[in-house]
Amino acid sequence: MAQQPAVNYFLPPAIQFGAGAVENLAEHLLGFGGKKPLIVTDEGVTNAGILSQTVEPLSKAKIDFAVFDAVQPNPTDLSVLEGLAVYQTEGCDVVIAVGGGSVMDAAKGIRILTTHEPPLENYYVDVGGLDRITSNLPALICIPTTAGTGSELSQGSIITDTSGRTTEGHRKRALSTPYNMASLALLDPELTVGMPPGLTAATGMDAVTHGVEAYVATRYHPIAEGVALQALKILGKNIRQAYHHGHDIEARGEMLIASAMAAFSFQKGLGAVHSLAHQLSTEANIPHGIANAILLPDVMEFNMSHAVDGYADIAAALGVDTSGMSTEDAADAAIAEIRSLNEEFAIPKGLGIAGLKWERIPKIAKDAMLDHCYKFNPRPCAETNMRDLFQAAF
Ligand SMILES: [Fe+2]
Repeated sequence: MAQQPAVNYFLPPAIQFGAGAVENLAEHLLGFGGKKPLIVTDEGVTNAGILSQTVEPLSKAKIDFAVFDAVQPNPTDLSVLEGLAVYQTEGCDVVIAVGGGSVMDAAKGIRILTTHEPPLENYYVDVGGLDRITSNLPALICIPTTAGTGSELSQGSIITDTSGRTTEGHRKRALSTPYNMASLALLDPELTVGMPPGLTAATGMDAVTHGVEAYVATRYHPIAEGVALQALKILGKNIRQAYHHGHDIEARGEMLIASAMAAFSFQKGLGAVHSLAHQLSTEANIPHGIANAILLPDVMEFNMSHAVDGYADIAAALGVDTSGMSTEDAADAAIAEIRSLNEEFAIPKGLGIAGLKWERIPKIAKDAMLDHCYKFNPRPCAETNMRDLFQAAF
């Protein structure tokens, strides 16, 4: 082990996993001493009937609840304030997030502001928010309806900052602290069976990216490293099945637990893919998982000289037969496997096709340097590297 100062590791507080787990929601709520939860969700979840499925146990137990269902994709600080107003007017005492990454991230922001003086911009990680967020927070139950972002098991939430005080226009900023982890992650694969193949692929490739970036991130965290590799193993075995046969509850369950594991593992750090991808949702409306999937092979090629052993392990975890291969060939095979998944899932072949304008690259390369994720990338990155990577993935 490298000589270094003492480090802190945080394990998730509680996870319940299994088909039908959501039926226990009322008991979990009462276990946290909750009397009136705020349910945070979005239109998609409501229209798909998942919200009514989720709140049924509360109604049965005659528990009163309030609903904030207006979370937008790439949630803004304004969305957080709207949800906070509902929490306060309705006298809520617990937050329950039902949805994908955007919903869970917004719910985490709302939860922080219930006990921390606004504005939210005081708490972003890039202005020292880590030290300003205390443990004094209401319970948060996260119920993911997609398998990928893993916000239910991560310390982070990504919010689109509209305050405009830091750079030109809006940009994604992170809240990140161990206290930002959910009190309970309720993982019920039955809520994910209705996901269309495109969303299964995008969110699944986000999970794959989390595992890959975390495994080779520079922080010393052997617990997270082990979890990342196992997550990749499960993802490699199940992602194609979940994409082609969405109603396979076993594959859905495996994807759900693996995406939570991959998100847990990125407390070790992420990498350049995420710093680049975060710019693309605000700049070109490219969904996070799609941006990651397109960028991942090019960033892996860029990192190769600094991560060859790690990538060789990843190839084997993803299910590539690496027996008899040199370490270099196995590492190349990991990149080939990611490209083949992208091909099979009809991921757009480049950022240009996905909606990015070439002339915007210098601006977003500059903004990528403001995103903390790349700091744990195995190969150091400068603005010129960010620009080159956007161009390579164009
Ligand atoms: Fe991600």
